[in-house]
Amino acid sequence: MNPMIAPSLLAADFSNLARDIDMINRSEADWLHLDVMDGVFVPNISFGFPVLEHVARLCEKPLDVHLMIVQPEKFIPEVKALGAMMMNVHYEACPHISRVIYQIHQAGMKAGVTLNPGTPVNVLVDIIRDVDMVLLMTVNPGFGGQKFIEHSIEKVRELRRLIDSTGSSALIEVDGGVNMETGRRLVEAGADVLVAGSTVFKAPDQAGMVHELKSLQR
Ligand code: DX5
Ligand code: ZN
Repeated sequence: MNPMIAPSLLAADFSNLARDIDMINRSEADWLHLDVMDGVFVPNISFGFPVLEHVARLCEKPLDVHLMIVQPEKFIPEVKALGAMMMNVHYEACPHISRVIYQIHQAGMKAGVTLNPGTPVNVLVDIIRDVDMVLLMTVNPGFGGQKFIEHSIEKVRELRRLIDSTGSSALIEVDGGVNMETGRRLVEAGADVLVAGSTVFKAPDQAGMVHELKSLQR
């Protein structure tokens, strides 16, 4: 089985977004991953909805929105208005995560729950059958181009066991420091979707790199 690939726009050339989105459209990318940061939940600010409205108009691939913000449930209507396929919220940002998953589904989107590197997989036990995806952060969120955290491989294995043993149909997405080497091990451990920022956008042949990542096999 080959992984799905979701290039992260955070590593694109912001002065040439239309060109880079055109590359995504023509590539074998499955989704486009969009990182929204608020400077509160994470120590950085990326882009917000006025920019994403333009991105959404140009992009022909399903949008995988990753909200690194406090109170993400406030923005369900804005994410829905983009036409997003998947809305990922951080477990750490949602004291009422079960309600937020319900609200995202009510809005007609798939619901993803994201875990920081310091949050254990077992917090998902009571919600794993309700989510469409778990997004495991393989770096501390907030910046592109960081070093992959090794312990993530074990976490993917543990999450794979939890999903398989509960009959959940949740996908496993991994985000941060994904390249051909870490990607290969993540896919072997059970990851379904690879997010890749720097590895795709800093490559001389970007669409070729998407193809390479997609050719990894479990
Ligand atoms: C980081 C973001 C990532 C980021 C990954 O907080 O969630 O999606 O773009 O960047 P790379 O692939 O360069 O580590
Ligand atoms: Zn992300």
